Amino acid sequence: MKGISKGFPGVVALNDVDLSADVGEVVALVGENGAGKSTLMKILGGVHQPDGGEIRVDGVARRIQNVEDAMQLGIAFIHQELNVVDNLDVAGNIFLGREPRTKPFQLIDRKKIHADAEPYLQRLGLDIPSDTKLEDLSVAYQQMVEIAKALSLNARLIIMDEPTSSLTIAETNRLLALIQELSGQGVSIIYISHRLGEIDEIASRAVVLRDGENAGELLKEDISHDRLVNMMVGRSISQFYVEPKGSSKAGYFQARDVRSSRYPHCSVSFDASQGEILGFAGLVGAGRSEMIKALVGLDKTAGAKIQMNEEQVEIRTPRDAISHGIYLVPEDRRSEGLVTEMSIRENITLPDMRSYAKAGIVQTTLEKTKADEQVQALKVKTPHSETLVRNLSGGNQQKVALGKWLAMQPKVLILDEPTRGIDVGSKSEIYQIMRDLAERGGVILMISSDMEEVLHVCDRVAVMHEGRITGVLDQANCTETNIMQLAVGQSVEEAKPASSE
Ligand SMILES: Nc1ncnc2c1ncn2[C@@H]1O[C@H](COP(=O)(O)OP(=O)(O)OP(=O)(O)O)[C@@H](O)[C@H]1O
Ligand SMILES: [Mg+2]
Repeated sequence: MKGISKGFPGVVALNDVDLSADVGEVVALVGENGAGKSTLMKILGGVHQPDGGEIRVDGVARRIQNVEDAMQLGIAFIHQELNVVDNLDVAGNIFLGREPRTKPFQLIDRKKIHADAEPYLQRLGLDIPSDTKLEDLSVAYQQMVEIAKALSLNARLIIMDEPTSSLTIAETNRLLALIQELSGQGVSIIYISHRLGEIDEIASRAVVLRDGENAGELLKEDISHDRLVNMMVGRSISQFYVEPKGSSKAGYFQARDVRSSRYPHCSVSFDASQGEILGFAGLVGAGRSEMIKALVGLDKTAGAKIQMNEEQVEIRTPRDAISHGIYLVPEDRRSEGLVTEMSIRENITLPDMRSYAKAGIVQTTLEKTKADEQVQALKVKTPHSETLVRNLSGGNQQKVALGKWLAMQPKVLILDEPTRGIDVGSKSEIYQIMRDLAERGGVILMISSDMEEVLHVCDRVAVMHEGRITGVLDQANCTETNIMQLAVGQSVEEAKPASSE
């Protein structure tokens, strides 16, 4: 790609950008939220047309006018926002539009489609039946299905836009190994990630974008966390993590016998203090998100006994939770956290509409002030707060989803994978906001699959395995080894088992 430019109304997304990949090369594409990474890849994948510049494949200039053109050229694109069809099964998604047909009626050949899907699932080590509906799979598995689809297309170049953002350590390692294998077979990979450790591991070259322009590149031997950050943000970040402080008012929040419909025979109990950030670690499928949903009344068949400040709190619906100051920022923000067809202002003020209304009329100026505050605090990259959320970059959408709840002074804030897709600079700002909230007397429960984050941000970490808490680690015992051991269901000597059946 040479001299690529692209503008959107009010935004220069890309200005004269170059990017190349050799046969079998793994190129990392990095940059802050809104730097232009996804836009550049959408141009290569035929989703957007560039305003200027040239694309050459095997030295031949090509116009990629739509997704089919890209596919014809052997370019497969695994999107940041998943592109799967929820009500189709795994095999149906992999072969969407290319389903094997039976003669003479041209019906989809059910037997063959599942048989054909099998080798791709095996190659990814996916132990799910190919007739599972996508809506029944976690985001992590949905992502793996997209990768299986790219494999089945025999792609020569695979673009992966934050493929590991919802994968945990074991799955990430499997994907990284697969990328290396593909690269050995001559498949080129363009790899976008905010997890800089991964880039160090697999990329032979890292290309850095800043504000829609090339900011430089590093070869494998020169790639380091600090150098990448420096190029991305144009400065070094001195203090990345805010040191845990220890908590006050022990036992302020008590959850007993939390039961989710996913694990009806297990129950979870834990306490959290005011001023505390309590982490929840575990592998995908450990039941963390389900437990949290049961807690805030999102799981109708579930049950939980909650006490706050020594008072029993009845939570039957999400509305009950909100009225007690318990807020959840869910994992799947696109379907559960944001209304993407609304503006940033509307999204941020949505949960607290009443406090912006006077005699039943919403006070837009008041709303705007509140929204602008959050846009500034979280450094959302946008011309103004009237921008539709749909038009923000992935990481900036995530910031809005967070800002919406941070604006409301929650008593208990539950964050499910809060920094997924967020760039390194903004991450440290979000940690600071979380810590401030805790210090003002809030309780923060954070589910995270980012090991670094769990180790450095939390005061204590509860580790879950198959619907149970297998241990709660305090600062002194919070190590990667201990977390991993508890996550696979083994006990750790120093770990204190939490009360759970
Ligand atoms: N369809 C669109 N309409 C208007 N603006 C857009 C559109 N798509 C992207 N933009 C803008 O272009 C810029 C670059 O966005 P892009 O999605 O490429 O960033 P990114 O580097 O992928 O960021 P992230 O790490 O957050 O995913 C942003 O300012 C974004 O708001
Ligand atoms: Mg992006």
